[in-house]
Amino acid sequence: MPEATASTKSNVIAPHGGELIDRTVSGDEAAALAAEAESLPRVRMSDKQTADLDMIASGALSPLTGFMTRADYDASVENMHLANGLPWAMPVTLSVSDAPDGDRLALESADGGLLAVLDVEEVFSVDRENEAARTYRTTEQEHPGVAQIYAEGPTLVGGPVTVFKRPGPAFPAYHLDPKDTRAVFAERGWSRVVGFQTRNPVHRAHEYIQKCALETVDGLLLHPLVGKTKGDDIPANVRMQCYETLLQSYYPADRTVLGVFPAAMRYAGPREAVWHALCRKNYGCSHFIVGRDHAGVGSYYGTYDAHRIFDEFQPHELDIEPMFFDHTFFCKTCGNMASNKTCPHPSDHHVFLSGTKVREMLGNGEVPPVEFSRPEVAEVLIAAYRGR
Ligand code: ADX
Repeated sequence: MPEATASTKSNVIAPHGGELIDRTVSGDEAAALAAEAESLPRVRMSDKQTADLDMIASGALSPLTGFMTRADYDASVENMHLANGLPWAMPVTLSVSDAPDGDRLALESADGGLLAVLDVEEVFSVDRENEAARTYRTTEQEHPGVAQIYAEGPTLVGGPVTVFKRPGPAFPAYHLDPKDTRAVFAERGWSRVVGFQTRNPVHRAHEYIQKCALETVDGLLLHPLVGKTKGDDIPANVRMQCYETLLQSYYPADRTVLGVFPAAMRYAGPREAVWHALCRKNYGCSHFIVGRDHAGVGSYYGTYDAHRIFDEFQPHELDIEPMFFDHTFFCKTCGNMASNKTCPHPSDHHVFLSGTKVREMLGNGEVPPVEFSRPEVAEVLIAAYRGR
């Protein structure tokens, strides 16, 4: 009988589609491709597309091996699946202003660095309004994700990519590719790992749902999104500082991993929640937290739409377990964090602060109440506001 010992066998969940994609080349192969890229027609990518390219390279978007062709685009927009039948909730596309010449294209980042070569399989035209209606549930230009796809235009180029240079990581100390987080989880003997997506400064409700989830699994992957966000979101470096500060005093180091998620925010609410979950499965998470209005913006989505969308998949089809949380808050009468599921008191017993109110307080140098934010985190935010 083959020997699979506990020390060599990893029980970390398999990537989406079964195999962790690696679209990078190194050494002589990278040098040769970089030299070839110099002579190819170029496509300048946006920050969002550059982040998508990097995630395709690292396997964070497994099973994608490149930017989508029409079959995958249509299937993901219309049915939340890929053409091969795997669930996939957001299109991942490369737009061009004009149909390019040639069957190989060099891809350059927003700042002009050559990174990759794309083998053109298809150039095709799409209906962005339909994409907006299906994936963002609105065609309004005011929606930041919709504005982004309208700006990208209707002409897309699809095909596999080969990346010879990764973009410089925004946070080198916290740059963990899927193979890295998987290695950490395997080394720690974790098989049940919960992932936490976030684009906002960490507050007590975040901490509460992370820790409730952690109570039932082996480990917690704190995975702040550090790609492009809309202008009035708090910058990623400030959010990372908040986490560093919080982790020093309030989190068990042997149960928590902090790594960054390079994607740009889409603000697609429910669709993005599914996409976020599948990406985190590639990082080795078996569970994923979905709280109130996940990845929402303004009032485009209902508070729990991002919970309900998971019902549209067959049981076990996603193969990552969503952990749903209702809106949580501090209840002064209970004397602890709670939600309407666990607290019987009316809302005037609850400490609730809107994002606008918190920003106003921080701008005035006022420390939000400890029931809302850890004082150490508030200090970081106040200092950031002062420095602006
Ligand atoms: S998001 O755009 O990344 O979803 P945010 O960083 O605010 O924004 O949220 C991170 C996660 O925490 C999401 O799953 C969100 O639904 C959840 N969340 C945020 N605030 C609360 C809250 N008060 N109660 C329950 N869940 C919350």
